[in-house]
Parts: sequence; structure tokens; C-alpha cells
Amino acid sequence: MKHCINPTDFTTDEIKNLIMLAEDIIDNPQKYAESCKGKQLATLFFEPSTRTRLSFTSAMLALGGQVIGFDDAQSSSVAKGETLADTVRVVSSYSDIMAIRHPKEGAALVASMFGDVPIINAGDGSHSHPTQTLTDLLTIHKELGRLDNLTIGLCGDLKYGRTVYSLIGAMQKYQNIHFVLIPAKGLELSSEFFEDLKMSENLSFSSVDSLEDAMEYLDVLYMTRTQRERFTSATEYDECKSKVILSTEQMKLAKENMIVLHPLPRVDEISPDVDSDPRAAYFRQAGNGKYIRMSLILTLLKTVEKKIQAPNVPYKASSQKCLNGVCITNSEPVSLLSYFSKQRCYCAYCDDLIK
Ligand code: NCD
Repeated sequence: MKHCINPTDFTTDEIKNLIMLAEDIIDNPQKYAESCKGKQLATLFFEPSTRTRLSFTSAMLALGGQVIGFDDAQSSSVAKGETLADTVRVVSSYSDIMAIRHPKEGAALVASMFGDVPIINAGDGSHSHPTQTLTDLLTIHKELGRLDNLTIGLCGDLKYGRTVYSLIGAMQKYQNIHFVLIPAKGLELSSEFFEDLKMSENLSFSSVDSLEDAMEYLDVLYMTRTQRERFTSATEYDECKSKVILSTEQMKLAKENMIVLHPLPRVDEISPDVDSDPRAAYFRQAGNGKYIRMSLILTLLKTVEKKIQAPNVPYKASSQKCLNGVCITNSEPVSLLSYFSKQRCYCAYCDDLIK
């Protein structure tokens, strides 16, 4: 593990070690208070964020390290037309590790090709959000004591929600996972992604029209907000906006030990009345985000010290660009890299099918 780009890059052993380390940090914070003394984390946030950026900052400070960076692309040289590749080249000479959030899919992969420090993907468009997934896995593990044999309801914006794609991707490596899809109308999982998932051995899926139909079966209910920033027009957003609101009435239908997760921010998809239900785990989940990021920073910095190289991925480079308009290949000086999976060809940056 040299970078953290996609949750599918981790083996289950690596995830287990990250979770165990995070749990030890929670129990013994003093033991780690100087672990990153003299090290600097750069946070490059080209998109808004509260939890992710502040939990990275809080994580590095709790490890005794320092933080530099920006939270508004307009205050960086991007406003002058600088590419991400150049920004990363420069910032990697000022820092030991970098966390990047960017609206283009595949941005973190590009950063890992141009920087010479570990890169952490803090969200790239609708594509991936691995540190949120690690937060989700730590929370499920702490709350339910397992990552296998789970029925997980995914509710809301399943089309644009990067946390949803990342969570499903990561769960492919665990045993006996059943997803119940409860999408808002028009915000279903991308059909190509769904077709590929159906070939995955450990996952099974069902779809229901309402939360009421799913509640009694769920171990985890994963709520999401409609991703307003990914819509091309306000009208499209208003038409698709999820009308589902989780209420205390629906919570009465759920198992006693079911947990409700939400990557946050919440808009109106969970009634505030639900917050006092002990099964509402989303604020505990946000708190866990700091500890799993401490664990990840420590692990990646150790990997660099040991000079462990990432395995060579059999990617194939070409001079083409990806047809996905929000793929980073269309705005950065990189050629398309593709890979084959189950006899189909995919873009290595955004994982879209190349036709
Ligand atoms: C999520 C994100 O940015 O994708 N938030 C987060 O990182 N905690 C979910 C969202 O914004 O809806």
C-alpha cells in the first residue's frame, strides 16, 4: 500500500490492519501523539468539505505532525490555469503525504503519477471516496463486530454518490453481503456498474421502492443526500431530488441492533428526531473518520520509510482520451490507461467502460 486511491486497492488483511490500528489509537491516543513529529500533510481541496478536510487536519495534529494546504481552488494557482499534475509536483516537495479532493474522476490517480509522496484520495468526482469507506468499515466493525454476513440498505442518490460506489466496491471482498437498493427515482446505480457487480461472487442485490419494504431485514441502513453539485441543471436536480425521509416511525420497523450510517452532510433525508435513537450511528461514524485517517497516514508513511513499491499494474497506455466528460484525462497531460476485467475494457482513471 503506497497510495490510497480506491478502496478496491486494499486487501482484506490491509483493511483489517488499518481497523485494528485505528481501534488501538482510539484506546491509547497518547501512544501515537508524537508518531508524525516533523512530518507534514498537505490537504489540497478543490471541492467543498467539512468533515473530510478537518478530520485529516485533526488526525495529523493528533499524530504530532503539521498541516499545510488550501480548501478553495480559487486561492491556489489553479485559478491561473495550473494543471493538477504541476500542482502536485510542486506540493510534493513541501510535504510528506498529500490528501486530495477534486471534482474530476481519476484525479487522485493522476496525482499519484506526478507526485513522489503518498497520495490519499479524499474524493474524486462521483467516482471514489476510499477514506469515507474505511470510516464506514471501522464503524460497522465497532458497532456490529463483523464485516461479513451483512444486509446493507443503500438509500437515496445511488447514481452520483461516490461513497456508495466505494462501499459496494470494498464489500466485494467480504463474504455473504446482500445489498438492498432503495434509490430515489432517476438516481439508480449506473447500469454498467450494476451489470459488473452482478458477476461478483460475494454480493447479491435486491431493489425495493420504499424504506418500509426494507427496514426489517437490514443490519445497516446507509442513507445519502442527493448530490446537487453533480447535476447539470437546477430543474434536473429538483426532478430527481430524493423525497425519502427516514423517520422515527420507520425506525420502529428495524432490528434492535441495526445501525443507520450517513457520510454526512445531511440535508433533509433523516429527520432530526432520529438522532436520539441509539441506532443512529452517523455522528459516531463521523468521529471515527479521524481515527481511521490517523491509522492510514501512519501506515502510508511507514510504507514510504520501508521504500515498498506499489505492485506493477498491467495497465495499457494510449494517446486516446476517455469519453466520460468528467474523467480527468480530458483536462490533464496524461494518456488514457485501460485495463481488462471480465473481458471488458475500462478506463483506469474513472473505471468507465471503454466502448
Ligand atoms: C461525502 C462526500 O463528499 O462524498 N461527504 C463526506 O466526505 N463526508 C458525501 C456527501 O457529500 O454527500
